[in-house]
Amino acid sequence: MTKIIVANWKMNGSGPFIIEFFKNFSPNSQNRIIFCPPSLYLKDVFFHAPMIGGQDCSPYSSGAYTGDTSAVMVKDAGCQYVIIGHSERRQYHKETSETVRQKAEQALKVGLTPLICIGESKEIRDSGKAIEFVLEQLSQSLPAGTDKTYYIAYEPVWAIGTGLTATEHDIVQMHQAIRQALPTQGTPILYGGSVNKDNAHAILSLPNVDGVLVGGASLKYEDFNHIVAFSEQAMI
Ligand code: 13P
Repeated sequence: MTKIIVANWKMNGSGPFIIEFFKNFSPNSQNRIIFCPPSLYLKDVFFHAPMIGGQDCSPYSSGAYTGDTSAVMVKDAGCQYVIIGHSERRQYHKETSETVRQKAEQALKVGLTPLICIGESKEIRDSGKAIEFVLEQLSQSLPAGTDKTYYIAYEPVWAIGTGLTATEHDIVQMHQAIRQALPTQGTPILYGGSVNKDNAHAILSLPNVDGVLVGGASLKYEDFNHIVAFSEQAMI
């Protein structure tokens, strides 16, 4: 099955960085390689890579929301995808699952595929209630009654940017619980949180892991080249 590899550049990159990166990285792969740069660089990256995604969109279609970007604007920039509800948005911008759901619905309305992020904090993981918490967050974040495609990304908050990854056992257990809770069979479920060139192959080979959402390692073309190469080996 095709694997989905998403590069979330977060608030990193520059014009010269993009030129240098794509001098050394070719997005040709049998798998789905999606770049999510900061919105102001979407068009620059689209010049080099066929599949791009936004990092966020507004829960509203248009209006007096200074600084925000609507789903249709993300689409107009060439995107087919948009990340919604990343834990950094939930944490630093106080986004609730209700807002995440509204954003996902806006995305679907304009024909974007939302990549809806969910994941527990360290405290919740330590309390033994991670699965319960994540499934609740999932049910509150999902767009209402739709047969359109969306992706889910399980990103444990404590594994993001820390070099810590969930154990293979925990990833398998969580992805299986998410799979069983999803209303539509075949919804892709991605793992994110310190995915790198050393662990990508093992993670991509786990059951119910349809792809990875990569932060830091997607900014280094050598590492990202390795991850994409491993994704091809992990195709089943
Ligand atoms: P890192 O890969 O840097 O841990 O980031 C993960 C992430 O947040 C991707 O969305």
